[in-house]
Amino acid sequence: MQENTKKTIVITGASDGIGAAAARRLSSAGHDVVVVGRSPEKTRSVAESIGARHFVADYSDLSQVHALASDIAESTDRIDVLANNAGGIFGKGRWITTDGHEMTFQVNYLAQFYLTRLLIDRLISSNATVINTSSLVHRLFSRFSLEDLDAENRYDPRTAYGNAKLADLLHAQELSRRYGHLGLTSASFHPGVISSNFAQESVAGAGVDALYRGPAQKLLSGPDQGADTLVWLAEAAPWADFGSGGYFAKKKPASIARPAQDPLTAYKLWETSEQMIEGLPDLAS
Ligand SMILES: NC(=O)c1ccc[n+]([C@@H]2O[C@H](COP(=O)([O-])OP(=O)(O)OC[C@H]3O[C@@H](n4cnc5c(N)ncnc54)[C@H](OP(=O)(O)O)[C@@H]3O)[C@@H](O)[C@H]2O)c1
Repeated sequence: MQENTKKTIVITGASDGIGAAAARRLSSAGHDVVVVGRSPEKTRSVAESIGARHFVADYSDLSQVHALASDIAESTDRIDVLANNAGGIFGKGRWITTDGHEMTFQVNYLAQFYLTRLLIDRLISSNATVINTSSLVHRLFSRFSLEDLDAENRYDPRTAYGNAKLADLLHAQELSRRYGHLGLTSASFHPGVISSNFAQESVAGAGVDALYRGPAQKLLSGPDQGADTLVWLAEAAPWADFGSGGYFAKKKPASIARPAQDPLTAYKLWETSEQMIEGLPDLAS
């Protein structure tokens, strides 16, 4: 690979499943991949198999997200791509993080919002692309309310997950609106219904459990196929190959739920998220 096409690509949730598959493919294509995971053993194992740097953070603790941002910023001057891919469905029951937020909301969305915000100067100076792993279920399960982001009312793990994945999509839209004029680009995508470690430890409820752990699981595609759109977006030329801020599936623009069609919702989610992380430390300059 020529030096001018080689990218530094940070992938969270890269210790398993779709993120690990993307890390392997992008590394073997010649890119400089930074592997981020939660489990130290799994993260090290993926990183060592491709000769990549690795960092660990548990997104249910935002102080670990801050430490992760510091580690990444210290380890590289450039970030061409930040793939916010860590996530999952949690439950049964409404679990609360050490920061006092509902678990699915924080791990899938708020932690990535904070990480991206901490790295924003580095991302802008690199003309980076931020890629958020969303999901088709943002259209099926969400009951999105800016007044109830922490899912205090009528908790259901599937709804919490659908809402969080809708927030991922809105985050990508708003990143483009706020920082597009400075050269930052963004996208969100649905990876497909993929057999991975996803939903293996949760009791998310009928439908999800049967699909991911029942006999139907054998019919699902594997993580390599789930990584297709992430790999495509990471290697693509923004604007030439995809519209910044867009939502994609199978490497093409895809339909989005009604609340995600209103720019004001994305704007308000950003403002509310800023309030939620108010008081948390910035990166030392
Ligand atoms: N599988 C699907 O059908 C599907 C469909 C739509 C969207 N997605 C999304 O695709 C992304 C990847 O999922 P996957 O299918 O590859 O699942 P996976 O095999 O379970 O991988 C999930 C990744 O997220 C990391 N993670 C989980 N909880 C975390 C936490 N508290 N803090 C930091 N990292 C955490 C895991 O780290 P450890 O392994 O180190 O714990 C792992 O690297 C997720 O955002 C998921 O919501 C999946």
